[in-house]
Amino acid sequence: MDKRPIGIFDSGVGGLTVVKEVIRELPFEETVYFGDTARVPYGSKSKETVTKFSSQIIRFLKSKNVKAVIIACNTVSSNSFEELREEFPNLPIIEVVGPGAESCIKATKNNIVGVIGTEATIKSGAYEKRIKALDPKIKVYSKACPLFVPLAEEGWTNNEVAKQTANIYLKELIETGMDCILLGCTHYPLLKACIGETVGKEVKIIDPAAATAKKIKDFLDKNNMLNKGNTEKHTFYVSDNNKKFADICSVTLKHSYNAEKVNIENC
Ligand code: DGL
Repeated sequence: MDKRPIGIFDSGVGGLTVVKEVIRELPFEETVYFGDTARVPYGSKSKETVTKFSSQIIRFLKSKNVKAVIIACNTVSSNSFEELREEFPNLPIIEVVGPGAESCIKATKNNIVGVIGTEATIKSGAYEKRIKALDPKIKVYSKACPLFVPLAEEGWTNNEVAKQTANIYLKELIETGMDCILLGCTHYPLLKACIGETVGKEVKIIDPAAATAKKIKDFLDKNNMLNKGNTEKHTFYVSDNNKKFADICSVTLKHSYNAEKVNIENC
């Protein structure tokens, strides 16, 4: 039994979609979340910058005595995971691309899948590689949808602007005949209704968050690290604009939370 919290981070509010699933899957665990709201978006930045920001965040989470870290960000998972594992060899780190790829394999019936994500995630080819490694006959069509991130950060998740943006981005994927679309950015589930209306009911929407939560649960269970007490506590930190973050956090998690602002550059 290990009562220390689980650290979770993202560039902003997107990782809250993972926190939600972690709370559902592991109701007795404490979590510490960091959203890098001062430096979002990560998706348009270089691998070096994304790795540097992520190292600072993991150092901050370690200072909060976390027992494991979930990279609740596809951009970091697909660009910097190996570097972070090397830098923090004694800290268990769970990423989202593997669970996302596995969920996709289970969901597709016609072996045509669409993957959407940030520019950096799509450019890395990480999903395509993971999906093909699991099942080479699956056809993967990818599309970067960078504007979905600021829309989610703004809370514009299903208005006219979001709908038009989705129509423009997703048109070419719809034409591929895909039977599932993977949300390869943790901000995108916040636009799930809008994306769902655009691709139509027959296309399944895959969010890696649930499979990621199961993965951390299995890991903690196997290593006798689950918190079996009843000490549910969730703490949130951001690098900027804590009020706006707290508002989206409260809507996403259906509970009122505050977020504390920290200077991440010092970590
Ligand atoms: N939520 C992130 C992801 O899953 C990052 C989005 C961004 O900052 O561009 O990729």
